[in-house]
Amino acid sequence: MAQSYDWAMRKTEQRCLNQWRRELLSQATGALLEIGAGTGINLPHYPANLSKMTLSEPDPQMRRKLSRKLGVKYQHVEIAHWGAEQIELPDHSVDTIVSSLVLCSVSDQQQALKELHRLLRPGGQLLFLEHIIAAEAKTVRWQKRIEPVWKRCSGNCHLTRDTLRNIEATGLQIEHLNEANIVGAPAILQRTVRGRARKPGLQTKETLRR
Ligand SMILES: C[S@@+](CC[C@H](N)C(=O)[O-])C[C@H]1O[C@@H](n2cnc3c(N)ncnc32)[C@H](O)[C@@H]1O
Repeated sequence: MAQSYDWAMRKTEQRCLNQWRRELLSQATGALLEIGAGTGINLPHYPANLSKMTLSEPDPQMRRKLSRKLGVKYQHVEIAHWGAEQIELPDHSVDTIVSSLVLCSVSDQQQALKELHRLLRPGGQLLFLEHIIAAEAKTVRWQKRIEPVWKRCSGNCHLTRDTLRNIEATGLQIEHLNEANIVGAPAILQRTVRGRARKPGLQTKETLRR
């Protein structure tokens, strides 16, 4: 998957994903963690003034491609091997977490979301772009039929996860949401949600002084 990922994605990137990534990731601030960073496709879209950037990617081949892409330009960026279910960072240590097309693939989505919630400081944000279970019953039936084989051929990518609902169930508050179909994708992979979810309990200068 690592070898062909950028090539396989190129048309979809041109049609819509590239623009969605640009809009979404321009909102990143502070200390940032990206989970499942893959080949580093999001890198060009990050603002230059982030205080810290950590890109985690459990697949060694993806990581190799990622570190090659970092080159000289992104020397300040750290790469980590953690899966999203167990991240070796302290509680409340991250301002922005990015997950794009990853929560479909993690082995335990509930545990991964719990972990993201733990890492975010109060007031911190999760920027997400994920494909989710279809809205139409007929397509859902197809997704359920195809999913067992699909998972095995596509890096554990699940077709029927209700990721938006699961993000909310973790206790993050959806602040901004766009729902759209990936242009040119088959119906089983089309429906996406992207947006910003925030961990409640923003610590202002005022509350920190108390
Ligand atoms: C479809 S690719 C998405 C890559 C990139 N984030 C993007 O936006 O195009 C899914 C990525 O999730 C990674 N992944 C799989 N299981 C994971 C896990 N448990 N924790 C974090 N990342 C995982 C894969 O190695 C792969 O790089």
